[in-house]
Amino acid sequence: MTAKVALVMGAGAGTGRATALAFQREGAQVVIADINEEGGRETLHQVQAQGGEGIFVRADMGVAADVQATVEAAVAAFGGLHMVSNNAALGLRSKPVTDITEQEWDRCMSVTLRGVWLCMKYQLPVIEASGGGAIVNIASVSGLRGEALQGPYAAAKGGVITLSKTVAVEYAKRGVRVNTVCPGGINSGGMAFYLDSLPDDLRQKTLDAHAMGRLAEPHEIADAVVYLCSDRASFITGQDLAVDGGILVRSNVVAL
Ligand SMILES: NC(=O)c1ccc[n+]([C@@H]2O[C@H](COP(=O)([O-])OP(=O)(O)OC[C@H]3O[C@@H](n4cnc5c(N)ncnc54)[C@H](O)[C@@H]3O)[C@@H](O)[C@H]2O)c1
Repeated sequence: MTAKVALVMGAGAGTGRATALAFQREGAQVVIADINEEGGRETLHQVQAQGGEGIFVRADMGVAADVQATVEAAVAAFGGLHMVSNNAALGLRSKPVTDITEQEWDRCMSVTLRGVWLCMKYQLPVIEASGGGAIVNIASVSGLRGEALQGPYAAAKGGVITLSKTVAVEYAKRGVRVNTVCPGGINSGGMAFYLDSLPDDLRQKTLDAHAMGRLAEPHEIADAVVYLCSDRASFITGQDLAVDGGILVRSNVVAL
């Protein structure tokens, strides 16, 4: 990767921060966007400490004006945009579908699914005008197979996967590849929030669901994102790549 511009939405912590750092290590200039100014500025500091160049933009992925301003900031600072990870999401505390309120449903959708659409709406024309590139939207294994007690989140992530496949076809001949990475559990703040909302007996089961018996470290997700954005993945579009420590292949009958 040379002289490429990468944008990470939700880069102020966890996987997004690891992705910004991984893009920089590949030589990209990095646009760090996050709703949390402190976290975003810390990521920028870490990118610069690695010897890289970047900017921070305070942005809410669920707000069109913020998303648009982020793309404009990338162009103003670095002259274009080539690689994107739309990483932010809004999860809810675990509960059955019948207990979910309309407000909770809408709140989850507004960032987790609608936000990804908004991001691509404003990013795609700029990536195309910059000579092409790639988008990786962060979904989840929840979006591939459902997730008990996480109805809105699982539905939103399923939507991210099908929306990404749709856009992949719309832009296949226009120089923009679009894929999803579907993580299992990640050792991050998002996972701590999720585990905290589960009854005690379900917490260990959640960890045991990974065939590898552990969570991912954020950099293990970031490496998959950076690969899919790189020219090494030049013929890959419309795919959902599970990076899940073997959740999807672990048998429910013979669980080693
Ligand atoms: N943590 C897991 O176990 C897990 C599992 C599967 C999928 N995922 C997905 O991976 C992605 C990253 O998860 P994580 O746990 O690393 O996240 P995290 O909670 O550690 O960090 C998310 C970052 O996004 C920012 N953010 C939140 N809402 C935002 C908004 N509206 N606009 C802009 N920024 C916003 C936060 O401030 C934070 O810096 C998410 O899409 C999540 O759904 C996570």
